[in-house]
Amino acid sequence: MLLREIQDEILRLKQEKDIAILAHSYQSHEITEVADFVGDSYALAKKAMTLTQKTVILCGVRFMAETVKILSPEKTVYLANSSAGCPMAEQFNKTDIENLRAKHPDYTVVAYINTTAELKTVCDVCVTSSCAEQVIRSMPQDKIIFVPDINLGTYCKNLVPEKDFILLDGGCPIHASMTENDVFKVKKQYPSAVFLAHPECKAEVTKQADYTGSTTGIMEYAIKSDKKEFIIGTENSIVEHLKYKCPDKKFFPLSNNFICGDMAITSVFDILDCINGKGEEIKIDEDTRIAAKKCIDKMIEYGG
Ligand code: 13P
Ligand code: SF4
Repeated sequence: MLLREIQDEILRLKQEKDIAILAHSYQSHEITEVADFVGDSYALAKKAMTLTQKTVILCGVRFMAETVKILSPEKTVYLANSSAGCPMAEQFNKTDIENLRAKHPDYTVVAYINTTAELKTVCDVCVTSSCAEQVIRSMPQDKIIFVPDINLGTYCKNLVPEKDFILLDGGCPIHASMTENDVFKVKKQYPSAVFLAHPECKAEVTKQADYTGSTTGIMEYAIKSDKKEFIIGTENSIVEHLKYKCPDKKFFPLSNNFICGDMAITSVFDILDCINGKGEEIKIDEDTRIAAKKCIDKMIEYGG
């Protein structure tokens, strides 16, 4: 079967079976072509609350599918490829957070959404890269334990210096592997290019960026800009998407190694399997779901 034939089959069956396909911005072009909605983690969470379809297939990583299930328990939610996890989400467990809470009882735990549903049950407020600043400014508490990403935490701490942060030593292994030398090298090669970075990168990288933001933020910046050349400081799928969206502009990866294997693992065949009821359905016990939902609800309350 040709790719186009598989995509047509997906488009026909999702209509027939009342299925919504949500795809994170890091998914491949061929997946975004069959998706009902493509966006960053915050946009996916908000979209999940408004879907009318009874079944959702999430193309992305596990915590994203869990977020959909937490917000829409009445829906059947599939993670398109059950091996797709975010390594950062597994870096700390409930006991780690409970111990921190006991040590710092007057601090509020802010969890990056890249955490498991189970970990969210012992956190107070969630954030994503696109709403973190807004949430942290809006929440009344001033003392924050930020888990798990030290780079997003540092980025927020610099944006909101009036608040007090305790940071953990977690993070995205892919974004955190980028160095200021990578930036120097690519900037030397393309001196007039605008540099756009994700806040999961280290401060030594983001401080050299013309813009730092979520995957959607980076794409919107490049699409709206009247500049013609861009260095993309996030997963390389964004370079590919931007080449399709803006054929008159040039996009260069910060590094050829900027690839998230977990995001790349999902294929159109996985979507077809889920449509045919053969994928992994996300199940979360009700106590965990309700406890985890509290911090996602707070994110939406403060994040707008
Ligand atoms: P966004 O919320 O910017 O889409 O980021 C999710 C992610 O996993 C980045 O690595
Ligand atoms: Fe997780 Fe990093 Fe992959 Fe994003 S790019 S899903 S943070 S491992």
